[in-house]
Amino acid sequence: MKDLRAQLARRLADGRFHSGESLARDLGVSRSAVWKHVRALAGLGLDIQSVPGRGYRLAEPLELLDADAIRAALPVAWRERLGVAAAFSLDSTSARLAALPDAALPAACLAEHQSAGRGRRGRVWVSPPGGNLYLSLGWRFAALPPDFPALGLAAGVAVCEALAGFGLEEPGLKWPNDLVAQGGKLGGLLLEVSGEPPGPCRVILGLGLNLRMPRDIEVGQAWTELAALGPLPGRNRLAAALLGALCAMLDTFATAGFAPFRGAWERRDVLRGRLVEVRTEAGRVQGRALGVAADGALRLWLSDGERRFYSGEVSVRMTA
Ligand code: BTN
Repeated sequence: MKDLRAQLARRLADGRFHSGESLARDLGVSRSAVWKHVRALAGLGLDIQSVPGRGYRLAEPLELLDADAIRAALPVAWRERLGVAAAFSLDSTSARLAALPDAALPAACLAEHQSAGRGRRGRVWVSPPGGNLYLSLGWRFAALPPDFPALGLAAGVAVCEALAGFGLEEPGLKWPNDLVAQGGKLGGLLLEVSGEPPGPCRVILGLGLNLRMPRDIEVGQAWTELAALGPLPGRNRLAAALLGALCAMLDTFATAGFAPFRGAWERRDVLRGRLVEVRTEAGRVQGRALGVAADGALRLWLSDGERRFYSGEVSVRMTA
């Protein structure tokens, strides 16, 4: 049944009208089954128009994710090494990679829709179909890299640099793992780590990037989308560029740590110099953000001096 939705989305992806009758014939199901699945897709957030006498169409044509196209567009260095899988709908791309054996890494998993997308601090990552990117990259380090707590920050830099390659220069980074633009969240990174120091260890790096969000979506915070920042690149080329940049970053980080990425992070740091509120389990603290330390900690100037915060402990809210 889920596969039927994927097939339906594939037929509608061209943005043209398809009659219920022709879809039913192509997919080998009844017209009412087509109607039922169209409704289910629309319920997930896919913008499908239904016009009596003409049929169904997507509000915008959609370049669906295609593992072969992504692999072909990867930098040569990763084309043979990185396993790539793309699905229409699954629970969570990161959960899928977590189930793979070490021998299958490095590997990437992408999806058009996630039914149980995971965000930081146990939150849900709302993952409607229709053009966003949900991708995860599984990686194995032979030994724990230096500055390990800063790995997510370096990943943010890699994502921004891949976007800049398409002329999308604007996104900034909000400590620890948010991509932001125009006052809203554009994307987020989630790092899931297993293994003990000194290693080996596995990292699953998940990226949710808003390309084109459904208009009326509610995700619990201000958001923006890449379409608001400039012409959108093809999704498969963009996915390949992001994966290539993340693989190159992980390769460098394994031995060099955060140092090669720190300057670029600071140039994109949207908190530096601003008053921020840090919320920890112990309560709220307000101070002025001083940038990041060499190990990726957020430096905050408080009334009694400098204090450092580490990813996972805190959330940050701009207060001025
Ligand atoms: C955040 O809370 O800001 C991080 C969100 C990370 C979401 C991505 S979407 C792809 C990958 N799969 C998941 O279940 N989560 C990450």
